[in-house]
This record gives sequence, structure tokens and C-alpha cells, in this order.
Amino acid sequence: MTLLEIFPSLRSGMPSPRLDATLWPCETHYDDLGRITVGGVALADIADQYGTPVYVLDESEVRRRCRAYRKYFPDAEIVYAAKALLTKSVAGWVAEEGLSVDVCSAGELVVALAAGVDPARIVLHGSGKPFAELEAAVHAGVGRIVIDSLTEITLLAAVATRPQQVLLRLSPDIDVHGHPAVKTGVADQKFGFPLGSAAALDAIDRVMRQPMLDLVGLHCHLGSQIHDPDFYGEAVRRLIAEMSRIRTEYGRTLPQLDLGGGHAVAYRCGDAEMNLPELADILEDALDAACALNHFPRLRISLEPGRAIVAHAGVTLYRVMAIKHVEGGRTFVIADGGMNDNPRVALYGARYDAVVANRHPTGPHLTATVAGRYCEAGDILAADVRLPADLRPGEVLAVPCTGAYHHSLASTYNGVGRPPIISVRNGRCHERIRRETPADLLARDLG
Ligand SMILES: Cc1ncc(COP(=O)(O)O)c(C=O)c1O
Repeated sequence: MTLLEIFPSLRSGMPSPRLDATLWPCETHYDDLGRITVGGVALADIADQYGTPVYVLDESEVRRRCRAYRKYFPDAEIVYAAKALLTKSVAGWVAEEGLSVDVCSAGELVVALAAGVDPARIVLHGSGKPFAELEAAVHAGVGRIVIDSLTEITLLAAVATRPQQVLLRLSPDIDVHGHPAVKTGVADQKFGFPLGSAAALDAIDRVMRQPMLDLVGLHCHLGSQIHDPDFYGEAVRRLIAEMSRIRTEYGRTLPQLDLGGGHAVAYRCGDAEMNLPELADILEDALDAACALNHFPRLRISLEPGRAIVAHAGVTLYRVMAIKHVEGGRTFVIADGGMNDNPRVALYGARYDAVVANRHPTGPHLTATVAGRYCEAGDILAADVRLPADLRPGEVLAVPCTGAYHHSLASTYNGVGRPPIISVRNGRCHERIRRETPADLLARDLG
């Protein structure tokens, strides 16, 4: 029994505990019962109605972040990187907010098209696009395809039935000092062609000689969780110099420069984030300087944020299954989800916060490790988090900043289906993706 349960009247006099506004959707509050609400809906009610684990997605937060990009980069094309999270509803929201969409498979393409995204505003990516996917993209009338290998130039030239706009992906050798798994702008990695390399020169030459391929620009993606905008300024300088060289050699002025995504968001209190106004200033200055230096006309830049659009709109809910105080060791809070719905901890050592969502804790706290239910020792959700000392099985834990690379990376390990996605807005819930059931798993098993 907590003091609050004995004296419910205490609630009204309590100061609201501060949920870090940088981690949670804008519309996050406490209700009269001390429960956390997002988009006007109590998270505990969502857990009761749809079960746990469950992904909650705040539609207004997604739209708000799309608008922020449109506001700070009014002349740029903002291309939502669908790999962060793609459902028909998310594709619809971002398209309504004026964003283009980047997809990296035929599966993502189908979802974007089903949501009504204009094919001309779809960009296709991928480091190993199968022939059938190139065909599907060309037939769908996808606006641009980002070429990632020499093989792809040959395949695409064979598939294209009318001139197809393409971008060429180059790595400008900019080391953003991130986790090795998310550094994609350096030379020694699998994406694109190293800027200035023989392979890059060969690729440019081959594309130029294909009458069905219309090279409209260069592309780079420096990595993930980049909070220093200067890296993007440097990319602008290096790539415009290359565009200037292409103009000299081929007499063709490329009109587009796609700078990829990778803008950092805060997962825990105090994490550095990309500052959009600062990024806008740095890009503007770099464009001015590089265009002037190379006597190159101003071109249109594209940005491809994924995480920065959806990460903070997502909150994942779990039920506490068990609590274990290991003698001489840690306290483990075992949740009913884990690495299947959030593999980012095991993949990149990502760190998260977790709070109890069904009540307003007022008593003492303890430091705990929230672990998952799956058969892997590395199945951790959040290490060293402060939780109420009187936490009990059955209570609801909420993990903020789980909108990006959670549902899209989820698996069915241990035969556990993927959680549903419930969107919230103005006090209402919508089930956007239903829970995957054992029947779904059986349906794929042909015996
Ligand atoms: C080509 C490309 N563009 C954009 C993104 C989106 O990155 P983020 O979600 O970090 O913004 C990625 C992520 O891997 C990518 O590979």
C-alpha cells in the first residue's frame, strides 16, 4: 500500500513529477489519478485495452516534427526515411504534411503507395536492390532511385522503359564518431562509392552513358545520431566540389543534393540532439560558400530525417512480470517485452529511460535494470533506471522515445508476435497495426 492509496486526497496537493519534455511527446501529462497520459489518453488504459507490450504513437507529435522541418528548411525537400517506422497511417500523415518518402524495399514501397503517397515523391534506396524491386519501382513511377553499386546501373538501365531520375550515393569520408554500425559516411563501409575513388568515377561515367538514366544529383548519408551540424556543412562543401568537377567533365549541372538523414534525438535526459535552426544556418552558409567558390548555381537540397520525425512520438508500454533482487547484484525488473520489440539495446548499446505509468509514485526509489522476457542474457530494455521501490508485478512501465527503429526492427524470436501500434490524438485511440498472433506465425509455416 502506498500513502497515496491510503489517502487519495493527497494527489491534488502533489507537485507534478517532471517528465523530461525532451524525451516525451509534447502532449504528455498526468491525469487526476496520477497516471501518465499521451495525446489525451491514459497509457494505463491503453495497456488494459490492447494488452502489452504495445507501441503508442502520438500523431500530433509526428505532424509537429514534420512542420518543424518545413519551417526551418523552407527551400529544401524533406524526405521522410520510412525505415524508421512505416505504416499506412504514418506515410499518410507525413505526406499530408508535405514530406516526400524514402523507401528501401518493395515492401516499404507497397505500403507508401497503399497510403496514397505520390510515386513521384518517393525515393528508393538500398545497398542491394533485387532486380524485381527495381522493376517494381520503375513500374510504380518512383521519382528517384539512389544508385548504390555498379551492378545496379546495369540492371536499372535494362529495366527502365522511360528516362528514370537517379541520384548517385557517395561517401564523402566524414567520420561522425558514432557506433561503427551507424557510421556510413566513411570510405570503408558498404554503402555507395567513396568520393573521388576509381569506383565512383567509373559509376558516374557509366550512369552518364546510359540514355535511360537521368542523373539529377548526388546523395550521401553520414550516419546516425549526429548532433554536430558541422558535419553536414562539410558534406555540402565536398559534394558541391564534386558536382563542379562533374559539370566541367560532362557539361552537366546537377540540380539536387541529398544529404541523407541521421539527425540525433535524445533517448535519455541530457542526451545531445540536433538543433534544427543551427543546422539550417550551417547548411545555408556552406551552400553559399561552396556555390560561390565553385561558381555553381544554388541547388535544391534534400534532407532525409527518419528518427527525428517519429522517435519522440513513440512510447512503449510493458507490464512488470517479476522483480528480482540479486543478492550482492542488481535489481532486475522483468518486463513482458524486450529485445523483440526493442533490439536497439542489444544492437547498438542504446540506453533508455523507463517510468511507471499507472500511478504517480511518491515514495522512495531504487535503481533497477529493466530486462526483457526473451532467452538472451543481453535482452535488456533499460539499465540503471530509477523506479519506485514499491513497484509490483502487474504495473505498467512506459519507455519513451521508442517511435523509430522499434516496430520496424521487431522480430518474433521465441515465437512471440510483434506488438500492435496504437495511435493517439485528442483523447482518442486508433489501432493502426494489430498484434501479431500465434495464428499469424503458424500461417507462414507450411509444414
Ligand atoms: C539513406 C538513409 N537516409 C536516411 C536515413 C534515416 O536516418 P535517421 O533515421 O537516423 O534520420 C537512413 C538511416 O539509416 C539512411 O540509410
